[in-house]
Amino acid sequence: MKKFKQIVFWSLIGFTLIQFIPVDRANKPVDQKVNFVVSQKTPEKIKELIKGACYDCHSDETVYPKYAYIAPLSWSVKSHINEGREHLNFSIWETYNKDLKTNMLTKSIQTIQAKTMPMPGYIVYHKEANLSEAEKTLLINYFQGILTSNIY
Ligand code: HEC
Repeated sequence: MKKFKQIVFWSLIGFTLIQFIPVDRANKPVDQKVNFVVSQKTPEKIKELIKGACYDCHSDETVYPKYAYIAPLSWSVKSHINEGREHLNFSIWETYNKDLKTNMLTKSIQTIQAKTMPMPGYIVYHKEANLSEAEKTLLINYFQGILTSNIY
């Protein structure tokens, strides 16, 4: 019993201490000229869908949920955001070359269809990202429309 209490005690100390490890949650300033929803003049309804379902991990406009302030959860959240931005950052869309844009639009369609994006763990706590079939179709058709227009 004594050993058990010691384990609990030191775990609590450990948990408390890791809260002091800094996590960088500052968003970089966004140049609106190169921001996807601005340069594409995305219609309001679609803009809401993309911002609600993708922008937290794929832009520099991340809104951090409350659980992102508790270590070690905060580390996992931050690593998803870092990785998400590395693959696709809508805030710097116009700095991408045409090939990369084509690739990202195509993959966005594929990942929504395959239900791998938005990330399944994320939609549990973000209702606005839990897209209905109709909303998914709207998003997919929108990305497809840009690809088909060939103006990007
Ligand atoms: C909770 C964070 C999160 C959200 C929300 C999210 N993504 Fe991602 N996304 C990631 C991460 C992490 C990766 C990189 C790892 C991977 O491919 O699973 C990624 C990768 C991608 C890629 C690149 C895949 C590749 O093979 O290069 C695309 C495209 C993408 N996401 C599109 C979207 C779209 C579109 C949405 C919204 C409908 C979205 N994501 C929402 C975290 C997220």
